[in-house]
Amino acid sequence: MEKLGEGKTKEVYLLDGQHVLLRFKDSITAGDGAKSDVLPGKGVLNAQTSAILFRLLERHGVETHYVGMEDERTMIVKRLKMVPVEVVLRNVATGSIVKRLPIGEGEVFQPPIVEFFLKDDTRHDPLLNYHHMRYLKLFSEEEARKVEDLAVKVNEVLKKVVEEAGFVLYDFKLEFGRLDNRLILGDELSLDSMRVRDRSGRILDKDLYRRGFPLEVVRDSYSEFLDKLRRV
Ligand code: C5P
Repeated sequence: MEKLGEGKTKEVYLLDGQHVLLRFKDSITAGDGAKSDVLPGKGVLNAQTSAILFRLLERHGVETHYVGMEDERTMIVKRLKMVPVEVVLRNVATGSIVKRLPIGEGEVFQPPIVEFFLKDDTRHDPLLNYHHMRYLKLFSEEEARKVEDLAVKVNEVLKKVVEEAGFVLYDFKLEFGRLDNRLILGDELSLDSMRVRDRSGRILDKDLYRRGFPLEVVRDSYSEFLDKLRRV
């Protein structure tokens, strides 16, 4: 099968003209790839978590690239022309926003804040505004507004299911692609790309890895989240 590409955590293979396979690897990375490890089982956990959340979004009318599963770590997805922009939605302040702006850890955003970043590790994913995105031919202003609306809609669905699973959704990152003039949600939805904490503040997501917790703690926590999601 022709390999179309490989990122830090996924491989992409051509299935047919309209579909590709996304194979989730067991690697875990942080700091734009500066820190990297192999965490056996992590690819399956993230593929399964993503599949549950993409199916849920589809049921709520959000078009995603998800088609089905080829095996436990490999997703069949629509072939999109990906836009190299990371769309971040924040419900609770933590991470890069509290370093960049005079905002305190734990402040609640109501309504949520949406930010755009260029997907570019060598430049450490710089923040983008509408002007940058238009000039760089990433999103027109109309598309950027559409993407913001989609991120808000995704948040309504994810926030609710994460709450039903017993946790709090702090923030998440989305990536979109184009197909026949439509903008479709792509990539993954996992604890690598979402921040989830329990009500006492215990971290379940990749911040555990970023902060140097042992790999087994990271895996147990990803596994716990998937189990709870399955029970919702
Ligand atoms: O680091 P920052 O606070 O900007 O991250 C916001 C959200 O986007 C977090 O959920 C983080 O896991 C996710 N993210 C990501 N990939 C990146 C940067 C951030 O999934 N390259």
